[in-house]
Amino acid sequence: FPVDKIRNFCIIAHIDHGKSTLADRLLEMTGAIAKTEKNRQVLDKLQVERERGITVKAQTASLFYSHDGQEYLLNLIDTPGHVDFSYEVSRSLSACQGVLLIVDANQGIQAQTVANFYLAFEAQLTIIPVINKIDLKNADPEQVESQIEKTFDIPREECVRISAKLGTNVETVLRAVVERIPPPAGSVGDPFKALVFDSNFDHYRGVVANIAVFGGQVKKGDKIVSAYLCKTYEVNELGLLRPEEHPTQKLFAGQVGYIVAGMKDVKEAQIGDTLYHHEQPVEALPGFTPAKPMVFAGMYPVDQSEYPALRSAIERLTLNDSSVTVQRDSSLALGAGWRLGFLGLLHMEVFNQRLEQEYNASVVVTAPTVPFKAVLSSAKLIKGRRAVQKNMVYIDDQRVMMKYLFPLNEIVVDFYDVLKSMSSGYASFDYENAGYQAADLRKMDILLNGQPVEELTTIVHRDRAYSSGKAMCERLKESIPRQMFEIAIQAAIGSKVIARETIKAYRKNVLAKCYGGDITRKMKLLKKQAEGKKKMRRIGNVDVPKDAFISVLKRK
Ligand code: GTP
Repeated sequence: FPVDKIRNFCIIAHIDHGKSTLADRLLEMTGAIAKTEKNRQVLDKLQVERERGITVKAQTASLFYSHDGQEYLLNLIDTPGHVDFSYEVSRSLSACQGVLLIVDANQGIQAQTVANFYLAFEAQLTIIPVINKIDLKNADPEQVESQIEKTFDIPREECVRISAKLGTNVETVLRAVVERIPPPAGSVGDPFKALVFDSNFDHYRGVVANIAVFGGQVKKGDKIVSAYLCKTYEVNELGLLRPEEHPTQKLFAGQVGYIVAGMKDVKEAQIGDTLYHHEQPVEALPGFTPAKPMVFAGMYPVDQSEYPALRSAIERLTLNDSSVTVQRDSSLALGAGWRLGFLGLLHMEVFNQRLEQEYNASVVVTAPTVPFKAVLSSAKLIKGRRAVQKNMVYIDDQRVMMKYLFPLNEIVVDFYDVLKSMSSGYASFDYENAGYQAADLRKMDILLNGQPVEELTTIVHRDRAYSSGKAMCERLKESIPRQMFEIAIQAAIGSKVIARETIKAYRKNVLAKCYGGDITRKMKLLKKQAEGKKKMRRIGNVDVPKDAFISVLKRK
């Protein structure tokens, strides 16, 4: 395919505005998939995507389209809408020259519409606004066009009105892609140079990398080098994604496809890496700015014997989801594990679900926390309000966009749910990192009979210390069995106790049931009791079952 007959574009939008439905229609119209009721959201391949009805992974599909007697190759990338997966969007944009920005004709511009518009705008891509769901009774495309003009400074004449569900006017979208989006730069005559913008691990073939070819060409048997590790590989297989893998002889400048080159370790073919021909080194592409994790949680195997299997599962899944950060960690209570960083709570849940569904792993996930920086000085004395309004812009006479500065800790847990229910589902929400700020935080210890329990130490805001200390003490009380002596469970800040629960003493005489003198029976019972104790961790003089830590640390 000549480069000038190639178009690479992404579909971006706020969640549920209809990206995946439009992708289905485009695939059908270009003959990539059959037109049947069964073909719904075909690009949402993962089990978690089908179960939740959301896209979490960007997916690529190459389409062939005839326009004015010319054949075009269109590479479409369907991206997720939820804020937690915006790293997928920004990486996908690097393989494109244009985007379809979908806006629901009923809901109008929402938080992710704005965030995604800016990602595309900063990447200097051609933006085609598409107003979807015009079949809905309450659709108001006029109004949405005004919003687009006002918020993004795009003339209303450039908007395409469609119903992705019914297929109305979708042909116009394809024409706009061909006519408005420029072909990729680069030429087949240049040295081979490709960007790895996504990867996944295949059990048999090793790393399967999704690449955008920026220059030259590559074929089976070629020796290529990964700029990241400077290692040479032989190309075993390559091809287009339509959306299934479709092997071809070569990939050319401007094309998007996949490549398998015998990379057996997940550390090879890192996302953002540059591939080149071994005899023609090129300057590496800038790659991607690493994602900044916002929410951290511990992950531990349910059983320590599963540690190696879980490690390999986490490594393979993070190859496919490079926005997750992984650090080794260990906890006295839960054993060896990891501390993982995620872009948000939904991201954390989806990652966990994928580990279980795609890798059969069972894990204990601890309650999420956000990063803090401690400054050991009196600057903590600075008191601030928990949320500060920054600005407010009217998108039209019914919608307003407000910017606040929030402590991340206040929004990670349930802010989104509360906002949605308060606004009857109308409000939408997006966030970006605003850096660290001084806050009135305290280190809270949990004590058992005066002994601190290291793994339960948390950082809390002073205003929340009492309620969170009380909740932890209550949960511990429920899960520690009575022992021969009284147990005081306390939450303390420094030397000041802020909450307390007491477990009454109780004498559990396992021998009470054996009257008579059967010594072997007695021994058996004593042994059983000792084994039960092994599963406990002794803190001071108190035996704490492993489950108690899990119930306090684990997410509710
Ligand atoms: P995420 O990938 O999760 O961000 O969602 P999405 O943007 O891909 O949205 P999706 O295509 O899953 O569509 C969301 C819902 O809107 C589905 O129930 C679709 O059936 C519906 N929908 C999509 N397009 C139209 C349309 O043109 N008209 C109507 N009435 N409904 C539509």
